[in-house]
Amino acid sequence: MDDLERPGLEGVIAARTRLSHVDGAAGRLVIAGYPLEDLAGVVSFEALTHLLWTGDLPTSEEEASLRHALAPHRALSPAVAALLTAACAAGAPPMDAARMAVGALSLGADEAGAAAAVLGALPAIVGGYERLRRGGALVTPVGPLGTAEALLFAIDGRTPHPERARALDTYLVTVSDHGLNASTFAARVVASTGSGLVDAVVAAIGALKGPLHGGAPGPALRMVLEIGAAERAEAAIAERLARGERLMGFGHRIYRVRDPRADVLRAAVDRLAASGHGHPDLHALAAAVEAEALRQLAAHKPDRVLQTNVEFATALLLHELDLPDDLFTAVFAVGRAAGWTAHIAEQRETGKLIRPASRYVGPLDRARPEAAR
Ligand code: ACO
Repeated sequence: MDDLERPGLEGVIAARTRLSHVDGAAGRLVIAGYPLEDLAGVVSFEALTHLLWTGDLPTSEEEASLRHALAPHRALSPAVAALLTAACAAGAPPMDAARMAVGALSLGADEAGAAAAVLGALPAIVGGYERLRRGGALVTPVGPLGTAEALLFAIDGRTPHPERARALDTYLVTVSDHGLNASTFAARVVASTGSGLVDAVVAAIGALKGPLHGGAPGPALRMVLEIGAAERAEAAIAERLARGERLMGFGHRIYRVRDPRADVLRAAVDRLAASGHGHPDLHALAAAVEAEALRQLAAHKPDRVLQTNVEFATALLLHELDLPDDLFTAVFAVGRAAGWTAHIAEQRETGKLIRPASRYVGPLDRARPEAAR
């Protein structure tokens, strides 16, 4: 075997997948054969989940059947409800609450039903946690609601406006899968050991939480709001870069051009605004901050193409849906769970134990310790 050492496993092909293809040079994302632009805003998140789980888009009967399979899991078990309540009382961040609550899903589901349990319960967990934080009591999204509708219902206790549900549905489709990103890799590592689906999803949630992965949109929004006015963007961004900070929502391990998901989400934001929702002033400010950030990043790192990634547009869209910025990553998890569960199944079918090697760089000749007794 060769002795390749690749920090961060950059460029290493660690799995074969039929699920999604990220072409970083062309800025193209293909999900199970379809360009993202042909799916987002066109098919529902449930249809997309069916595509990832089975390889094909569903007939209308198959889509209805998946909705019916997910619906019972929206009613959270007493164990999950108690965990969310305890997390809320402790002031836990939503991703911590989601990790704990998803972990408890293995109590009620056998392995065959675990993927539906996770996909069905997650919007109720994330939306329900937000409702608890607002001082409300948990409500069960009723009927075979779509995932986006269920999440908004779990927060507000009523059926959402169709345009709001549509915008969130577009978002969930857009972030559903993205090659071997860090959280998906974490899920596949756990699945490769023969462990359970819930175990693998809990690992993925832990990986997604980090600011270099799914934790970026909250800070990206805060940056835009802190800058506050287009004329302050130049100085504020220069100060951040001078302090050695990374600009959240920019740069990507794979894309060397603009992240195609950013454009799909911007179109969803525009559509939402055209339907009378959102804060148009913020769009102009965000566009000014984005343009200035790209200008300064090009000068700051001339050897590295740092373009807008999905998280900057995510920040804008989820803010327009009146979701608080510390909930963004948990909403991301709801969408990415479709990809995680599909990758876990694929890993089980085709993969082998993922176990890379390390290069030992510590000492080899330290003195033997004295015996304690
Ligand atoms: N702002 C400022 N500088 C940056 C940024 C940024 N957003 N991104 C990368 N750089 C700089 C780094 O400081 C580094 O400089 P150095 O060589 O002087 O140390 C250089 O560019 C290369 O960065 P790496 O971290 O080595 O590149 P990598 O491919 O590992 O990073 C990452 C990709 C983590 C996304 C990075 O661009 C980043 O931190 N971006 C900000 C966080 C963010 O938006 N994350 C969301 C990504 S999308 C997603 O996961 C869903």
